[in-house]
Amino acid sequence: MPESVLITGASTGIGRAMAFEFSRRGYALGLCARRLEMLETLRDELSSENPVAIARIDVAELERVPDVLDKLADELGEVKIVIANAGVGERSYPGEGTFHLDRKVIEINLLGAMATIDAGAEILKKQGGGQIVGISSVAGFRGLSSTPAYSASKAALSTYMEGIRNHLTQHKIAVTVINPGFIDTPINTHRKSRPFLISAEKGARLMADMIEKQVWSSTVPIWPWAIITRAMHLIPERFWCKISI
Ligand SMILES: NC(=O)c1ccc[n+]([C@@H]2O[C@H](COP(=O)([O-])OP(=O)(O)OC[C@H]3O[C@@H](n4cnc5c(N)ncnc54)[C@H](OP(=O)(O)O)[C@@H]3O)[C@@H](O)[C@H]2O)c1
Repeated sequence: MPESVLITGASTGIGRAMAFEFSRRGYALGLCARRLEMLETLRDELSSENPVAIARIDVAELERVPDVLDKLADELGEVKIVIANAGVGERSYPGEGTFHLDRKVIEINLLGAMATIDAGAEILKKQGGGQIVGISSVAGFRGLSSTPAYSASKAALSTYMEGIRNHLTQHKIAVTVINPGFIDTPINTHRKSRPFLISAEKGARLMADMIEKQVWSSTVPIWPWAIITRAMHLIPERFWCKISI
């Protein structure tokens, strides 16, 4: 039986590109997102010899997440890797009547990812091990003035994942935090500036390499973001708030 990977947010962007990449590497796939019709098209395009199970999920419907992941895991047999990838980016500023957007970002990117990790860990513990992957962001290293709630959601996700590593390692579950820079996907096509942009295909290839190596945490691509994220921490706050995009 091929090893399986479950991916949330697989209908577009990084999740979709990772579906192709892991399929090429011989994995069976469990793919979920809100737009089921796009997952059906993706399953047809994959034309994989290995099983591809799909399901509709809204990770913000927190109580329903375990049922969807359990169903996918049952269809696939044993699951090796669970990737909490689903996410949204919204531009919103305090006092502008857009708090509902901030709430949505936290519900999907943080609580939805934590619900995915929780349900995924339960599946992997029953199986005796595996790997949990969270798609965080370089935006979580400092507060970005254009998307403060997004930065907060990713900082919290990375911190949460760092915190769960010790416990999950005792259950033979590896924890990997991926921090992409700019990857060419619908989440950022509206932005004027996308420094060091790489394609979703290249991003997925680099991420799959890191996931298979079970790295603890990395930027994608490593360079120049490993340097930039370190430098970000060195910039005094009074300068950072003026230059952050
Ligand atoms: N692209 C970048 O430069 C970049 C950089 C750093 C981090 N990231 C992170 O990478 C992840 C993937 O983003 P992307 O760049 O691939 O963007 P994307 O193309 O917009 O894809 C986002 C995916 O998340 C799914 N999704 C959104 N809300 C959901 C919900 N409530 N429940 C279930 N699925 C949901 C979307 O599918 P449906 O709409 O069909 O549900 C879609 O498949 C996100 O966590 C993002 O924050 C991206």
